[in-house]
Amino acid sequence: MTSEQARNGPILFFDSGIGGLSVVKEARVLLPEHAYVYVADDAAFPYGAWEEDALRARLVALFGGLIARFSPALIVIACNTASTLAIADLREAFPDQPFVGTVPAIKPAAERTRSGLVSVLATPGTVRRQYTRDLISAYAAKCHVRLVGSENLARLSEQYMREGFVDEDAVRAEIAPCFVEHEGRRTDIVVLACTHYPFLVNRMRKTAPWPVDWIDTSEAIARRALSLAATLPPPREMPVRDIALFTSGRVLPALRRLVSGFGFSLDEAAVPEAGEAG
Ligand code: DGL
Repeated sequence: MTSEQARNGPILFFDSGIGGLSVVKEARVLLPEHAYVYVADDAAFPYGAWEEDALRARLVALFGGLIARFSPALIVIACNTASTLAIADLREAFPDQPFVGTVPAIKPAAERTRSGLVSVLATPGTVRRQYTRDLISAYAAKCHVRLVGSENLARLSEQYMREGFVDEDAVRAEIAPCFVEHEGRRTDIVVLACTHYPFLVNRMRKTAPWPVDWIDTSEAIARRALSLAATLPPPREMPVRDIALFTSGRVLPALRRLVSGFGFSLDEAAVPEAGEAG
Protein backbone atom coordinates (compact mmCIF):
# COMPACT_ATOMS: atom_id res chain seq x y z
CA MET A 1 0.00 0.00 0.00
CA THR A 2 1.27 3.50 -0.80
CA SER A 3 1.21 6.24 1.80
CA GLU A 4 -1.31 8.10 -0.43
CA GLN A 5 -3.76 5.19 -0.16
CA ALA A 6 -3.09 4.95 3.55
CA ARG A 7 -4.33 8.51 4.02
CA ASN A 8 -7.80 8.17 2.62
CA GLY A 9 -9.26 5.85 5.19
CA PRO A 10 -11.15 6.47 8.43
CA ILE A 11 -9.87 8.02 11.63
CA LEU A 12 -9.09 5.19 13.99
CA PHE A 13 -9.51 5.81 17.73
CA PHE A 14 -7.81 3.39 20.03
CA ASP A 15 -7.97 2.60 23.74
CA SER A 16 -7.82 -0.40 26.06
CA GLY A 17 -11.55 -0.04 26.66
CA ILE A 18 -14.30 2.53 26.35
CA GLY A 19 -12.27 5.48 27.72
CA GLY A 20 -11.37 6.66 24.22
CA LEU A 21 -15.04 7.40 23.64
CA SER A 22 -14.50 10.55 25.73
CA VAL A 23 -12.22 11.73 22.92
CA VAL A 24 -14.60 10.52 20.19
CA LYS A 25 -17.33 12.67 21.76
CA GLU A 26 -15.25 15.81 21.20
CA ALA A 27 -13.95 14.68 17.80
CA ARG A 28 -17.46 14.15 16.47
CA VAL A 29 -18.09 17.88 16.96
CA LEU A 30 -14.88 19.00 15.24
CA LEU A 31 -14.57 16.32 12.55
CA PRO A 32 -18.12 15.34 11.64
CA GLU A 33 -17.38 14.49 8.01
CA HIS A 34 -14.91 11.66 8.64
CA ALA A 35 -15.53 7.95 8.95
CA TYR A 36 -14.52 6.56 12.35
CA VAL A 37 -13.32 3.22 13.56
CA TYR A 38 -13.14 2.63 17.31
CA VAL A 39 -10.88 -0.14 18.55
CA ALA A 40 -10.90 -1.25 22.19
CA ASP A 41 -8.23 -3.73 23.17
CA ASP A 42 -10.46 -5.01 25.94
CA ALA A 43 -8.86 -8.46 25.80
CA ALA A 44 -5.91 -6.77 27.52
CA PHE A 45 -7.79 -4.34 29.81
CA PRO A 46 -6.58 -2.79 32.04
CA TYR A 47 -3.38 -1.55 30.41
CA GLY A 48 -2.38 0.16 33.66
CA ALA A 49 -1.30 -3.16 35.13
CA TRP A 50 0.82 -4.39 32.17
CA GLU A 51 4.57 -4.88 32.19
CA GLU A 52 6.11 -2.33 29.77
CA ASP A 53 7.94 -4.56 27.25
CA ALA A 54 5.01 -6.93 26.88
CA LEU A 55 2.53 -4.09 26.32
CA ARG A 56 4.83 -2.36 23.83
CA ALA A 57 5.16 -5.58 21.79
CA ARG A 58 1.42 -6.15 21.93
CA LEU A 59 0.69 -2.63 20.67
CA VAL A 60 3.10 -2.78 17.74
CA ALA A 61 1.72 -6.17 16.65
CA LEU A 62 -1.87 -5.06 17.07
CA PHE A 63 -1.38 -1.88 15.05
CA GLY A 64 0.28 -3.86 12.24
CA GLY A 65 -3.01 -5.71 11.81
CA LEU A 66 -5.23 -2.65 12.24
CA ILE A 67 -3.32 -0.52 9.74
CA ALA A 68 -3.36 -3.33 7.17
CA ARG A 69 -7.08 -3.81 7.63
CA PHE A 70 -8.38 -0.24 7.87
CA SER A 71 -5.76 1.95 6.13
CA PRO A 72 -6.58 4.75 8.58
CA ALA A 73 -6.04 8.35 7.53
CA LEU A 74 -5.11 9.07 11.12
CA ILE A 75 -4.77 7.08 14.32
CA VAL A 76 -5.69 8.71 17.60
CA ILE A 77 -4.23 6.80 20.53
CA ALA A 78 -6.93 7.88 22.96
CA CYS A 79 -5.10 6.31 25.88
CA ASN A 80 -2.42 7.87 28.06
CA THR A 81 -1.13 4.49 29.23
CA ALA A 82 -0.45 3.32 25.65
CA SER A 83 0.78 6.71 24.35
CA THR A 84 3.27 7.41 27.12
CA LEU A 85 4.71 3.94 26.59
CA ALA A 86 4.66 3.31 22.88
CA ILE A 87 3.94 6.36 20.72
CA ALA A 88 7.61 6.60 19.67
CA ASP A 89 7.76 2.86 18.87
CA LEU A 90 4.56 3.08 16.83
CA ARG A 91 5.81 6.07 14.85
CA GLU A 92 9.04 4.25 14.16
CA ALA A 93 7.33 0.99 13.17
CA PHE A 94 4.79 2.75 10.89
CA PRO A 95 6.56 5.85 9.53
CA ASP A 96 3.90 6.64 6.87
CA GLN A 97 1.10 6.58 9.37
CA PRO A 98 0.09 9.81 11.15
CA PHE A 99 -0.58 9.33 14.87
CA VAL A 100 -2.04 11.61 17.52
CA GLY A 101 -1.03 10.64 21.04
CA THR A 102 -2.57 11.45 24.42
CA VAL A 103 -0.28 12.47 27.24
CA PRO A 104 -0.94 13.97 30.69
CA ALA A 105 -1.82 17.69 30.54
CA ILE A 106 0.98 18.68 32.89
CA LYS A 107 1.98 21.83 31.00
CA PRO A 108 -1.48 23.49 31.08
CA ALA A 109 -1.86 22.47 34.72
CA ALA A 110 1.46 24.10 35.65
CA GLU A 111 0.44 27.27 33.78
CA ARG A 112 -2.93 27.45 35.48
CA THR A 113 -2.26 26.50 39.11
CA ARG A 114 -2.34 29.29 41.70
CA SER A 115 -1.35 27.25 44.72
CA GLY A 116 1.49 25.43 42.93
CA LEU A 117 0.07 22.08 44.09
CA VAL A 118 -1.03 19.91 41.18
CA SER A 119 -2.03 16.25 41.13
CA VAL A 120 -1.90 13.91 38.15
CA LEU A 121 -4.49 11.15 38.39
CA ALA A 122 -3.62 8.28 36.06
CA THR A 123 -3.23 4.53 35.79
CA PRO A 124 -0.31 2.94 37.65
CA GLY A 125 1.36 2.46 34.23
CA THR A 126 1.22 6.16 33.27
CA VAL A 127 2.50 7.17 36.70
CA ARG A 128 5.53 4.86 36.32
CA ARG A 129 6.49 6.13 32.85
CA GLN A 130 9.67 8.06 32.23
CA TYR A 131 7.63 10.07 29.68
CA THR A 132 5.44 11.41 32.49
CA ARG A 133 8.44 12.24 34.69
CA ASP A 134 10.05 14.07 31.75
CA LEU A 135 6.92 16.18 31.24
CA ILE A 136 7.07 17.22 34.90
CA SER A 137 10.76 18.19 34.71
CA ALA A 138 10.22 20.08 31.46
CA TYR A 139 7.05 21.99 32.33
CA ALA A 140 6.28 21.82 36.03
CA ALA A 141 9.63 22.03 37.77
CA LYS A 142 8.36 24.93 39.90
CA CYS A 143 5.24 23.09 41.06
CA HIS A 144 4.73 20.35 43.57
CA VAL A 145 3.29 17.56 41.41
CA ARG A 146 1.79 14.54 43.10
CA LEU A 147 1.43 11.48 40.88
CA VAL A 148 -1.52 9.33 41.87
CA GLY A 149 -1.73 5.90 40.26
CA SER A 150 -5.24 4.53 40.60
CA GLU A 151 -5.73 0.77 40.49
CA ASN A 152 -9.50 0.89 40.13
CA LEU A 153 -10.83 4.06 38.49
CA ALA A 154 -10.65 2.84 34.88
CA ARG A 155 -12.63 -0.26 35.84
CA LEU A 156 -15.13 1.84 37.84
CA SER A 157 -15.59 4.07 34.82
CA GLU A 158 -16.22 1.06 32.56
CA GLN A 159 -18.80 -0.16 35.05
CA TYR A 160 -20.46 3.23 35.27
CA MET A 161 -20.69 3.61 31.49
CA ARG A 162 -22.16 0.13 31.02
CA GLU A 163 -24.40 -0.13 34.04
CA GLY A 164 -25.10 3.50 34.93
CA PHE A 165 -23.97 2.84 38.50
CA VAL A 166 -20.78 3.55 40.43
CA ASP A 167 -19.93 3.16 44.10
CA GLU A 168 -19.26 6.76 45.22
CA ASP A 169 -17.26 5.65 48.24
CA ALA A 170 -14.93 3.77 45.91
CA VAL A 171 -14.49 6.90 43.76
CA ARG A 172 -13.86 8.99 46.90
CA ALA A 173 -11.17 6.56 48.05
CA GLU A 174 -9.43 6.52 44.65
CA ILE A 175 -9.23 10.31 44.32
CA ALA A 176 -8.42 11.07 47.98
CA PRO A 177 -4.60 10.95 47.55
CA CYS A 178 -4.86 13.79 44.99
CA PHE A 179 -5.79 16.27 47.69
CA VAL A 180 -2.75 17.73 49.42
CA GLU A 181 -2.48 20.52 52.01
CA HIS A 182 0.92 22.06 52.49
CA GLU A 183 1.86 25.20 54.44
CA GLY A 184 -1.60 26.67 54.13
CA ARG A 185 -1.89 25.88 50.42
CA ARG A 186 -4.08 23.22 48.83
CA THR A 187 -4.13 21.29 45.57
CA ASP A 188 -6.11 23.34 43.08
CA ILE A 189 -5.74 21.26 39.89
CA VAL A 190 -6.19 17.57 39.19
CA VAL A 191 -5.10 16.38 35.75
CA LEU A 192 -7.30 13.55 34.45
CA ALA A 193 -4.50 11.60 32.77
CA CYS A 194 -6.57 8.63 31.70
CA THR A 195 -9.27 8.87 29.05
CA HIS A 196 -11.63 6.79 31.16
CA TYR A 197 -11.80 9.39 33.91
CA PRO A 198 -13.78 12.25 32.29
CA PHE A 199 -16.84 9.98 32.40
CA LEU A 200 -16.62 10.00 36.20
CA VAL A 201 -15.79 13.67 36.67
CA ASN A 202 -19.19 14.57 38.13
CA ARG A 203 -18.80 11.85 40.77
CA MET A 204 -15.29 13.08 41.46
CA ARG A 205 -16.57 16.63 41.94
CA LYS A 206 -19.20 15.33 44.30
CA THR A 207 -16.80 13.25 46.41
CA ALA A 208 -13.81 15.65 46.40
CA PRO A 209 -12.87 17.16 49.80
CA TRP A 210 -12.68 20.64 48.21
CA PRO A 211 -13.31 22.12 44.75
CA VAL A 212 -10.49 21.91 42.19
CA ASP A 213 -10.13 22.32 38.42
CA TRP A 214 -10.25 18.93 36.70
CA ILE A 215 -8.21 19.11 33.50
CA ASP A 216 -9.51 16.87 30.76
CA THR A 217 -7.51 16.59 27.53
CA SER A 218 -10.24 15.21 25.24
CA GLU A 219 -10.95 18.48 23.47
CA ALA A 220 -7.25 19.27 23.00
CA ILE A 221 -6.70 15.84 21.44
CA ALA A 222 -9.66 16.33 19.12
CA ARG A 223 -8.22 19.72 18.09
CA ARG A 224 -4.87 18.13 17.34
CA ALA A 225 -6.65 15.50 15.23
CA LEU A 226 -8.50 18.30 13.43
CA SER A 227 -5.31 20.14 12.58
CA LEU A 228 -3.62 16.97 11.31
CA ALA A 229 -6.72 15.88 9.38
CA ALA A 230 -6.71 19.26 7.62
CA THR A 231 -3.31 18.41 6.11
CA LEU A 232 -4.59 15.13 4.63
CA PRO A 233 -6.58 14.59 1.41
CA PRO A 234 -10.36 14.48 1.98
CA PRO A 235 -11.83 10.98 2.42
CA ARG A 236 -12.44 9.33 -0.99
CA GLU A 237 -15.82 7.90 -0.15
CA MET A 238 -18.55 8.99 2.18
CA PRO A 239 -18.61 6.80 5.27
CA VAL A 240 -21.03 3.91 5.08
CA ARG A 241 -20.99 3.26 8.81
CA ASP A 242 -18.66 3.81 11.71
CA ILE A 243 -17.54 0.62 13.32
CA ALA A 244 -16.35 -0.41 16.74
CA LEU A 245 -14.24 -3.44 17.36
CA PHE A 246 -13.47 -5.13 20.69
CA THR A 247 -10.47 -7.44 20.69
CA SER A 248 -12.06 -9.84 23.19
CA GLY A 249 -14.92 -10.45 20.79
CA ARG A 250 -17.20 -10.53 23.85
CA VAL A 251 -19.70 -7.72 23.62
CA LEU A 252 -22.60 -7.87 26.04
CA PRO A 253 -25.87 -6.03 25.32
CA ALA A 254 -25.07 -3.08 27.63
CA LEU A 255 -21.84 -2.42 25.77
CA ARG A 256 -23.57 -2.84 22.43
CA ARG A 257 -26.08 -0.16 23.46
CA LEU A 258 -23.31 2.12 24.68
CA VAL A 259 -21.28 2.05 21.46
CA SER A 260 -24.36 2.46 19.34
CA GLY A 261 -25.15 5.59 21.39
CA PHE A 262 -21.78 6.92 20.21
CA GLY A 263 -22.74 6.17 16.59
CA PHE A 264 -20.87 2.88 16.08
CA SER A 265 -21.99 -0.51 14.79
CA LEU A 266 -20.11 -3.47 16.14
CA ASP A 267 -17.69 -5.35 13.99
CA GLU A 268 -17.56 -8.98 15.04
CA ALA A 269 -14.49 -9.96 12.97
CA ALA A 270 -11.53 -11.15 14.98
CA VAL A 271 -8.25 -9.24 15.22
CA PRO A 272 -5.72 -12.07 14.92
CA GLU A 273 -2.71 -10.07 16.15
CA ALA A 274 -4.43 -9.25 19.43
CA GLY A 275 -4.60 -12.86 20.56
CA GLU A 276 -1.12 -13.70 19.30
CA ALA A 277 0.75 -10.77 20.75
CA GLY A 278 -0.56 -10.86 24.32
N1 DGL B 1 -7.90 4.79 29.06
C1 DGL B 1 -6.56 4.43 29.39
C2 DGL B 1 -5.67 5.66 29.59
O1 DGL B 1 -5.97 6.72 29.13
C3 DGL B 1 -6.21 3.34 30.31
C4 DGL B 1 -7.09 2.44 31.08
C5 DGL B 1 -6.41 1.12 31.40
O2 DGL B 1 -6.42 0.27 30.52
O3 DGL B 1 -5.84 0.95 32.49
O4 DGL B 1 -4.64 5.58 30.19
